[in-house]
Amino acid sequence: MADIDPDQFIITRKRKKYKFAKFANAQNCFEFDEWRQRDEHGRAHIDVVEIGAGTGLFVVELAARHPGRRFVAVDVKADRLQKGAYEAIERGLDNVYFVRARADQIDQLFDAKSLWAIWLTFSDPYPKKRAAGRRMTHPTFLAKYQQLLAPDGGFYIKHDNPDFFKWSLEQLVATGWTIDELSFDLHESNLSDDYKILTTYEQRWLGEGRITQFARAKHLD
Ligand SMILES: C[S@@+](CC[C@H](N)C(=O)[O-])C[C@H]1O[C@@H](n2cnc3c(N)ncnc32)[C@H](O)[C@@H]1O
Repeated sequence: MADIDPDQFIITRKRKKYKFAKFANAQNCFEFDEWRQRDEHGRAHIDVVEIGAGTGLFVVELAARHPGRRFVAVDVKADRLQKGAYEAIERGLDNVYFVRARADQIDQLFDAKSLWAIWLTFSDPYPKKRAAGRRMTHPTFLAKYQQLLAPDGGFYIKHDNPDFFKWSLEQLVATGWTIDELSFDLHESNLSDDYKILTTYEQRWLGEGRITQFARAKHLD
């Protein structure tokens, strides 16, 4: 095993603490309970949510392009979310928020039938069969998205893992969703430029020949 440099360890922990402090101090960042306690005006009228958003830089760019809509980036990691939060502040955007919460809590964060779009980008694929329940396109998660989306609202997914993407499409179809936009190579398609905004993960791997697959699904119940 490689030697652990204790100084480096301390620096790393400190850096993480610093990022947590930045999250706590930003006016556009919320812990799960804080978000839940916001008054109806603060919490309502959210249009677009990204789950497992990482840095949230994808929704920051969407928010800049669509100032009339309100966006939320959700992730469990505050040190990642704070990056998008400070970018939004720097760009003077007041229509995007950052909430530290778990994906399974999503139905406690927003009103039923209220969202115009839910985005899932490059979520952890959990390739082992026994971990399928943790995939964010498992039917238990899809049921929550269905509950939150407004009539005609869309569930948007981008991924570079063909097995995960195919499995996700199968779950969607099996649970009554209609796939109305689909590309197995998004960046070569003529679909909306908004979809092609690069996430942090996508930016890192696209140059290495990975291909982004994309689908939009609606549940017409
Ligand atoms: C591979 S990264 C992708 C991040 C981002 N969507 C992107 O494309 O750059 C997966 C993200 O999902 C988050 N995540 C994993 N499990 C989660 C959960 N149960 N609830 C919320 N976020 C989760 C991780 O913290 C991580 O930031």
